[in-house]
Amino acid sequence: MDLRGGFTSRIGFILAAAGSAVGLGNIWKFPYETGQNGGAAFLLIYLALTFLLCYPVMVGEIAIGRKAGLDAYGSYQKLGGKKWGYLGLYGIICGIMILSFYNVVAGWAFGYFIEISFSDLLEEENYGAFFGRYVVDFWDNLIFSLCFMLITAFIVIKGVQKGIERASKIMMPTLFIILIALIIYSLTLPNAMAGVKFYLLPDFNEITIETLYSAMGQAFFSLSLGMGALITYGSYVDKNQNVLKSAATITVLDIAVAFLAGLLIFPLVFSQGQSPEQGPALVFVVLPGIFQAMGPVLGKLVGGGFFLLLCFAALTSTISLLEVPVAYFVDEKKIPRKTSVWALATLVFLLGLPSMLSQGAVEMFSSLPFYNGKSTLDFVSEVFSDISLPLGGCLMTYFIATRWGTKNMSEELAQGNPHYKGSFYERYINFTIRYICPVLLGIFSILIILDKFIGLDKLS
Ligand code: PFF
Repeated sequence: MDLRGGFTSRIGFILAAAGSAVGLGNIWKFPYETGQNGGAAFLLIYLALTFLLCYPVMVGEIAIGRKAGLDAYGSYQKLGGKKWGYLGLYGIICGIMILSFYNVVAGWAFGYFIEISFSDLLEEENYGAFFGRYVVDFWDNLIFSLCFMLITAFIVIKGVQKGIERASKIMMPTLFIILIALIIYSLTLPNAMAGVKFYLLPDFNEITIETLYSAMGQAFFSLSLGMGALITYGSYVDKNQNVLKSAATITVLDIAVAFLAGLLIFPLVFSQGQSPEQGPALVFVVLPGIFQAMGPVLGKLVGGGFFLLLCFAALTSTISLLEVPVAYFVDEKKIPRKTSVWALATLVFLLGLPSMLSQGAVEMFSSLPFYNGKSTLDFVSEVFSDISLPLGGCLMTYFIATRWGTKNMSEELAQGNPHYKGSFYERYINFTIRYICPVLLGIFSILIILDKFIGLDKLS
């Protein structure tokens, strides 16, 4: 354990895991998913699923990692036998593929930071058109996402304690402060209340099967669940830490940032007379407007600051995405950390090129004939995150239910939490992991696969 390093304090682990959770998923993806899926109704379902289903899944993942003290592959193998190791590998592959497109979007955020701070982005008249031009610019995208990957690699090379923990400690609190300041400003804009209504007053007619599984996929992605990231981070956690409390703090922090991001974006969307359903472009189209309205000096300062923080939030997530396969190569293949990091960073970057070119730059990647004409970025993101993460959660809970056993999990969770055994929490977590999660997540996964590849409307 000592050779692998570990988190130095409870707060260090919480910040690093919350840093993994809080990222583009909260500030970029959550608002556009909410916008596309009916607003407040989506938010409500998202919150319910997060507390009822995702929290136990998170506790289970951390428990597996802390018990085994290894990477995702090694942990499953150690606790479940050789075959279960494949479930760890499944997570590692998801991590690599998610990072490949995540790094492209992080590159956009990085590019916006540069364009606002050092160029004339705030003088544009139409941000929709600007974004459209921006994402097809090959060289900008290449350079910015390459920079992002390099910074991620440098931090991961430094290892858990020095790199990951220290980076998270500074970035998270600053992000909160700037978000709240921007929300206060945005709520004063004309027609802002229409956005608040859309976001907070649910219309239950809007709920469909798609709302349910989109919220599920979003919750898994946002909390970094279903691919062993928290098994890996859990393996660096001390035995005297209270896993239940840490997981609760991480969940609440993650939800808080997503909720605040929505509260910032929707008043802006409505005050600018935009559509909430624009998809992945949403925050890149809507946010520059607020910075423009602040005037050239303040706008540059606050806008640049915001996108810089978005980059930081993305960075603590890319770090954790890269750490999952790196831990595998270090623990299982005994390849030095530095070599593993450079090899994987190169691989991930190359795998991301088709996604990078899929926003109109290269037709072949922009419209996939076997995937309803959607882009490669959509394909990779939907297959490896929306579909694979809930499926990974289903298999992980099935593993605890049928192989490792909820009894062993309870033993592990009781360490650092002497009152756990026999408590309501224990019964709740065990029941959810044993019965609810495998079944419900299994059903969700089948529905998503059918819908994405065949179309649920065509089946009915
Ligand atoms: N949770 C991150 C976000 O919301 O941006 C994305 C992510 C990080 C997903 C790490 C999965 C993961 F293992």
